[in-house]
Amino acid sequence: MIVAIDGPAGSGKSTVSKMIADDIGFIYLDTGAMYRLFAYKLIKENVDMDNNEEELRILEDLNIDMKNGKFYLDNEDVSDKIRSREVSSGASKVARIKEVREKMVDIQREFSKSKNVILDGRDIGTVVFPNADLKIYLNAASEVRAKRRFEELKEKDKNVNYNEILKEIEERDYHDSSRKESPLRIADDAIVIDTTDFTIDEVKKKIKNLIITKGEGKW
Ligand code: CDP
Repeated sequence: MIVAIDGPAGSGKSTVSKMIADDIGFIYLDTGAMYRLFAYKLIKENVDMDNNEEELRILEDLNIDMKNGKFYLDNEDVSDKIRSREVSSGASKVARIKEVREKMVDIQREFSKSKNVILDGRDIGTVVFPNADLKIYLNAASEVRAKRRFEELKEKDKNVNYNEILKEIEERDYHDSSRKESPLRIADDAIVIDTTDFTIDEVKKKIKNLIITKGEGKW
């Protein structure tokens, strides 16, 4: 069974997906982390994100691995490093490139073959798995999403500024929704859940019930 969860930054996708997957024994694939890994590699190697030729050369040799919820680049665990603000906006930049998306989508489809998987991202229900068994679109007011991200980042950096985070999130929303390749949009058959006034637990319960109802007899 394939469960697709799409939505903008800070809508709660990854927290909820991970919790549900753990609960019901599904595998969770955080597709955003894959774009983050590639952006991190470019930043680390000082490659200009507008130099397509060099980016594509690095993409070809990209060696990423995902094990037990951890992400490895060239065998190094970079799970924490890919969560920085610099990497977030870098990921949104590289995610506009057609060749990058094709490679990531291939990996996502291959990874999900004959498994019970929850994938979260921007294009899962629209492009990666248009025939997914269940499609959810999570949304929330941008101020609430920025507040959630702010609380997360504050734990690591006391100097983080809410207004800057809000601006970065709105910029990323704009680019992710207006790009030519696989823009963020609600699939026609997705169930939309606005999480502005819900706790993570409430959202989790709702989606888990939907999976159980839809998936009857499938696993
Ligand atoms: O966790 P957050 O929602 O902030 O971001 P993410 O899911 O880790 O994704 C980082 C960036 O990767 C997004 O802003 C998108 O530009 C891109 N992305 C994408 O284009 N397609 C996906 N399936 C997942 C992420």
